Amino acid sequence: MAQIDSSQFRLGNSHALTLTVIALLISLLLAATKWVTHEQIIANEQLRQQQLLLQLFPDGTDNNPFSHSIEFTDPARGPLKAYPLTGPDGIQAVIVDTYANDGYNGRIEMLIAIKKDLSIAGVRVTRHLETPGLGDDIDHRKSDWITTFTGKSLERPSLPMWSVRKDGGEFDQFTGATVTPRAVVKTVHDTLVTATEHFDILFKDTKP
Ligand SMILES: Cc1cc2nc3c(=O)[nH]c(=O)nc-3n(C[C@H](O)[C@H](O)[C@H](O)COP(=O)(O)O)c2cc1C
Repeated sequence: MAQIDSSQFRLGNSHALTLTVIALLISLLLAATKWVTHEQIIANEQLRQQQLLLQLFPDGTDNNPFSHSIEFTDPARGPLKAYPLTGPDGIQAVIVDTYANDGYNGRIEMLIAIKKDLSIAGVRVTRHLETPGLGDDIDHRKSDWITTFTGKSLERPSLPMWSVRKDGGEFDQFTGATVTPRAVVKTVHDTLVTATEHFDILFKDTKP
């Protein structure tokens, strides 16, 4: 029977160790690359959503609202930021950076553009974890559901209708998914209430 001498055994062991270390390093590198790329993709997507919101505004705004922010406090969410869009007559609209904490899978981040007359210019969800095929129709890339808020205000519709149809309101829910749209509708309504209460802070540069 062939004998394996101890030097061959040691050599085999050291090769195995080297291969394990290399495999570990490659795994770490791949994980780091994936993490960096993921963060970059999210940042790019947020930028894209900001740009989409800006397209809703007519010429005459400064078109770079994200360089300057106004801080205010939402009773349910704490400190929030709003970005003013300034035109020849002062602040024409603000884009409120806010979120719902009660999405099906947690936090849903969104930008809500509110005009000086306290009507909604547009809403975009910028980040969410809702289930693909169920709750992700809040994403403008998946459906135009989010555009149903455009033109709405605290009076249009009045309060009892500011909910999903299943709760007696006028906003569509999705097939098999009510939790997600319910959270978004509530956040948009809350934001209109808070913007109304903080009108003087948000639109303070508005000229008569
Ligand atoms: C695996 C799984 C994922 C789900 N994801 C969502 C979701 O992202 N958004 C949502 O509104 N409902 C989701 N649902 C359905 C909700 O559990 C719920 O049944 C639905 O939203 C209706 O809510 P309602 O009873 O309050 O009307 C999911 C259900 C399952 C089993």
